[in-house]
Amino acid sequence: MHWKSFVALTTLAAAAQAAEKKAVSSAAKSSTTAAPKSTAAAATTSAAAAASPLTGGTNPLAITIPSIPQTTSYDVNTECQAYSVPGLTIDPKQWPNIWETATTNGMNTSAEFTSLYNSIDWTKKPTAPVRKATAAGGLDFTGYSATTDPDCWWSSSLCTIPKAAGINADIYRCEEPETWGLTYDDGPNCSHNAFYDFLQQQNLKASMFYIGSNVLDWPYGAMRGLKDGHHIADHTWSHQLMTTLTDQEVLAELYYTQKAIKFVTGVTPKYWRPAFGDVDDRVRWIATQLNLTAVIWDLDTDDWAAGNSVPETTVEQTYQDFITMGTNGSYATYGNIVLTHEIDNTTMTLAMKYLPQIKAAYKNVLDVATCNNITNPYMEDSVTMTPFGNATTTNTTTAASGSGVAPAASGSAAPATSAKSGASALTAPASLLALVALAVFAQ
Ligand SMILES: *[C@@H]1O[C@H](CO)[C@@H](O)[C@H](O)[C@H]1NC(C)=O
Ligand SMILES: *[C@@H]1O[C@H](CO)[C@@H](O)[C@H](O)[C@H]1NC(C)=O
Ligand SMILES: *[C@@H]1O[C@H](CO)[C@@H](O)[C@H](O)[C@H]1NC(C)=O
Ligand SMILES: *[C@@H]1O[C@H](CO)[C@@H](O)[C@H](O)[C@H]1NC(C)=O
Ligand SMILES: *[C@@H]1O[C@H](CO)[C@@H](O)[C@H](O)[C@H]1NC(C)=O
Ligand SMILES: *[C@@H]1O[C@H](CO)[C@@H](O)[C@H](O)[C@H]1NC(C)=O
Ligand SMILES: *[C@@H]1O[C@H](CO)[C@@H](O)[C@H](O)[C@H]1NC(C)=O
Ligand SMILES: *[C@@H]1O[C@H](CO)[C@@H](O)[C@H](O)[C@H]1NC(C)=O
Repeated sequence: MHWKSFVALTTLAAAAQAAEKKAVSSAAKSSTTAAPKSTAAAATTSAAAAASPLTGGTNPLAITIPSIPQTTSYDVNTECQAYSVPGLTIDPKQWPNIWETATTNGMNTSAEFTSLYNSIDWTKKPTAPVRKATAAGGLDFTGYSATTDPDCWWSSSLCTIPKAAGINADIYRCEEPETWGLTYDDGPNCSHNAFYDFLQQQNLKASMFYIGSNVLDWPYGAMRGLKDGHHIADHTWSHQLMTTLTDQEVLAELYYTQKAIKFVTGVTPKYWRPAFGDVDDRVRWIATQLNLTAVIWDLDTDDWAAGNSVPETTVEQTYQDFITMGTNGSYATYGNIVLTHEIDNTTMTLAMKYLPQIKAAYKNVLDVATCNNITNPYMEDSVTMTPFGNATTTNTTTAASGSGVAPAASGSAAPATSAKSGASALTAPASLLALVALAVFAQ
């Protein structure tokens, strides 16, 4: 199928993601508990320069974004009209099917992927098995001990320091005290114009964990992320539970997202975030072969569920609690990393509502690269992040003067799953349909 015919699936995929998130029942639920302390070395594990094996695509230093309705409007229907970028021709033969496992469309038999796969010495791979999913779509923990936790399986134990050798340790907090680590998952969302304008007006930079399928669907959204100075990272091709995928599938999910980000923005990310935080030493080892380091979180807003499976007021209370933690000593010696999403109007509206209070409560509000002094989060050294001491991201002058953008009243935000999902379900693969059915069932 031509990649354009998958564009309609994006709304469906959001529902599928929500369903998956609901289905995963694990230690991740209690991830507001501080994760075990690691040494500050975690942040510098992959500091060594890595040359990107990927070439071509956009020049990251000369990104131009035309003022077209999709890049300027605040109306979701206008923003989310498909478009193509002049000079950026997407050859469907080079990419997995959008929103399907990244080995699809013959990727795993392609010369490109085979060569990458064969360049890796798989005899060094840790022994952790491919996990099973439950009938409900969650993880099957049968037979796994969270106490001994032989595979450092985060979903089971919140483990972030690999048990096996030669693997990049996860980053799960900011090393700078009283700092809010600002992260948004699942973009670029076609309807993020109001949100990205707000971040720009507030002089805020975030770590943006982009889904490869979204990057090809909404290239200007990804280009804007980089051009605005956000830290761009890899959030896999199709947002699945990584520990349930084969070696080949894990490699493809990570690689084709690096490739999509490189093609569209011109940089190759060295950081990634597993969907649902589902990572163990096997998955970490494969990511390490691609020079990738995982970024987890220590605080989870569950914002994606607001207005779906939990009332919006629950998520608002969570935001309030995390804001309180900025002034009550919780983060006296280090900073947090907070899980939030640009997945829909509700989550972006919540972010705009609470960011001014977050800026007031914390000393710094920073992307994860800056708060950990990671100046080179990409394989290309031409694009760097400001080191912490030089960052003036919390600009109180800007905050105080206000942006003129009044956050919409939270109650007026549209529910995240819309009737549209049902309409596009007609063209959906069975696996996504099953997840949508699950979402409906779960509510
Ligand atoms: C983007 O956000 C809109 C709502 O603003 C939502 O309907 C859509 O599903 C989102 N798309 C993706 C791919 O998450
Ligand atoms: C990883 O980094 C090394 C060192 O720069 C480089 O030679 C190699 O091509 C990179 N590999 C991948 C798969 O990105
Ligand atoms: C390629 O991937 C598909 C889907 O994951 C799998 O069914 C197939 O066996 C793989 N082919 C090869 C040659 O590994
Ligand atoms: C970051 O670098 C600055 C300037 O060298 C230094 O003052 C600060 O302690 C560093 N912070 C971290 C978390 O490494
Ligand atoms: C800080 O506030 C949070 C949220 O209300 C609370 O859970 C935590 O116990 C408080 N910590 C301290 C040290 O007071
Ligand atoms: C949410 O949708 C409303 C109505 O379309 C729009 O005015 C507002 O800008 C959107 N908010 C965000 C954060 O995109
Ligand atoms: C950081 O700030 C110091 C002092 O102003 C300056 O000398 C240095 O060049 C800056 N470094 C970067 C990478 O901007
Ligand atoms: C902070 O905001 C003010 C007012 O918008 C602006 O004039 C100033 O240049 C900003 N400073 C930095 C360092 O971004």
